[in-house]
Amino acid sequence: MLKIADLADPAFRSDVLAGLAEPTPAIPARWLYDLRGSELFDDITRLPSYYPTRVETALLTARMAEIAPLACHDCAIVEFGSGSSTKTPLLLDAMHPKAYVPIDISGEYLRDSAARVDAQFPRLPVHPVEADFTKQVELPSAIDGLPRLGFFPGSTIGNFVPRSATDLLRHFRDILGTGSKLLIGMDRVKPVERLIAAYDDPEGVTAEFNLNLLHRINRELAADIPIDAFRHAARWHDMNGRVEMHLVAQRDVAFTIDGQRFAFAKGSSIHTENSHKYGPRGARLLLLAGGWTPLAEWTDPEQDFALILAEAQRNRFAP
Ligand code: AVI
Repeated sequence: MLKIADLADPAFRSDVLAGLAEPTPAIPARWLYDLRGSELFDDITRLPSYYPTRVETALLTARMAEIAPLACHDCAIVEFGSGSSTKTPLLLDAMHPKAYVPIDISGEYLRDSAARVDAQFPRLPVHPVEADFTKQVELPSAIDGLPRLGFFPGSTIGNFVPRSATDLLRHFRDILGTGSKLLIGMDRVKPVERLIAAYDDPEGVTAEFNLNLLHRINRELAADIPIDAFRHAARWHDMNGRVEMHLVAQRDVAFTIDGQRFAFAKGSSIHTENSHKYGPRGARLLLLAGGWTPLAEWTDPEQDFALILAEAQRNRFAP
């Protein structure tokens, strides 16, 4: 007989079962984004305490006249993890690219947002690519020969530990090719109270976003996790320069997932997300390590968030 868990994404199943069996239980953050999780993340971006989206959008708006001529001349814009493409019109309006290539893992989101961009920019060729941008991506042949500008906003790079972030940046360079440019958003280190408020909002939306992962496990992996036994926590890890999301057991609790038993002692936690914050030099070093030379940088007056334009390095000997 076919069981519910047999219908689930096998990668989700193995990440959850393996991650919870680790000495420090953890589940990769990408599994936070099922349909409900993506809706909740959209809600987060509108919260007063979640400054990154607001500040980055204001920064793009205020500085686009300077950014556009440095970033794109008759280029193709390739957006990694385009989601609902809310910031994209700011670029398309100012840069007048020859083509727009949104890449997203969610076909549904991709089709909706590509249709919206199509309607708003009827003369712009839009070539959506449904793919996981951390894996092999084939760019459409329609943009062969065009200079490329990669766009990676939202400080999504912060959700990768530095080693994976470096690999990802190198991967972007491989996809886009030498001579390409990258416009990337990176959240800055700031006082801990503001960081924690952004990841543990008084409205409880981030808590719901985090706890939705347990609902998803129950739904998709035939699990019986008592959700009320867990509470959302956001913690600043100073040594690693990141905000961490955890689901903390409020009492001793045991449950099964797809027939496997797990037990959590009161106070122990499941680590569900990292959000690294970078100082100006740390951000530039990360880009350099990832094969990109920073060309220019823009920040808001409070220096809460940075946009960095970088150019793909050529492979060459260096001192
Ligand atoms: C998608 N990513 C950049 C968000 C962040 O700020 O790390 C995800 C998020 N998690 C909780 N709030 C927002």
